[in-house]
Amino acid sequence: PVTVFKNPKEASINVAHRIASIIKEKQAKNLNAVLGLATGATPIAVYAELVRLHQEEGLSFKNVITFNLDEYYPMQATAAQSYVSFMNENLFDHIDIDKNNVHIPDGTLKLEDIPAFCLAYENKIGEYGGLDMQILGIGRTGHIGFNEPGSAPNSGTRLVTLDDLTRRDAARDFGGKSFVPTKAITMGIGTIFKAREIVLMAWNRKKASIIKKAVEGEMSSDVPATYLQLSDNVEFILDEEAASLLT
Ligand code: F6R
Repeated sequence: PVTVFKNPKEASINVAHRIASIIKEKQAKNLNAVLGLATGATPIAVYAELVRLHQEEGLSFKNVITFNLDEYYPMQATAAQSYVSFMNENLFDHIDIDKNNVHIPDGTLKLEDIPAFCLAYENKIGEYGGLDMQILGIGRTGHIGFNEPGSAPNSGTRLVTLDDLTRRDAARDFGGKSFVPTKAITMGIGTIFKAREIVLMAWNRKKASIIKKAVEGEMSSDVPATYLQLSDNVEFILDEEAASLLT
């Protein structure tokens, strides 16, 4: 299903409140909430609302386990552009989560250690009982996570090569496309699919054409997000601009 909100702020608050509900439901049963998280511009206001709920309304993240979708490769955790830095700045540094419960693909691994790391990442999600909710943005290539065109619907966590358009879109963060890593470690489409709920968010006019393809287009590995059409557990949360080309 597709839900359209007037603006990104209202949509983000709605998503944040769903996440908070999951956390509280689990707390009531003394269980962990296992969340799949995304970086990028899209979820920033979701994280801001979660921080507000923590600071002003006492929402605790002590029972929360997180798995981020992806990380550039190679990437030092301390680098300004790392997804570790992004998550700390936008969420983790402002809430009471136990940092031992935070999982982000490791951009510092030696190439030969990546396959074992990726398998362990998948297994760890499973050991925690799977993701209760995965939140997603969408790239203009149609990627979810960094599953670029050509990704298989049953793909797992792995090292991938970033599309040229994705690197151009990231150029501003890195001070030029040539400084954007050519690779990333990402959860696979198969990994994402195992989440009990998937929420894909998109805002602004520049996402309208890829949202049209993702929601209404023919399913194809050319637009990996079209695979979400196969899932009964996915919801597209859009603002009016991102939804503007839908029929
Ligand atoms: C980020 C991720 C990417 C982004 C996508 C959209 O962890 O996996 O798929 O969600 O590139 O990025 P923004 O939100 O910056 O437009």
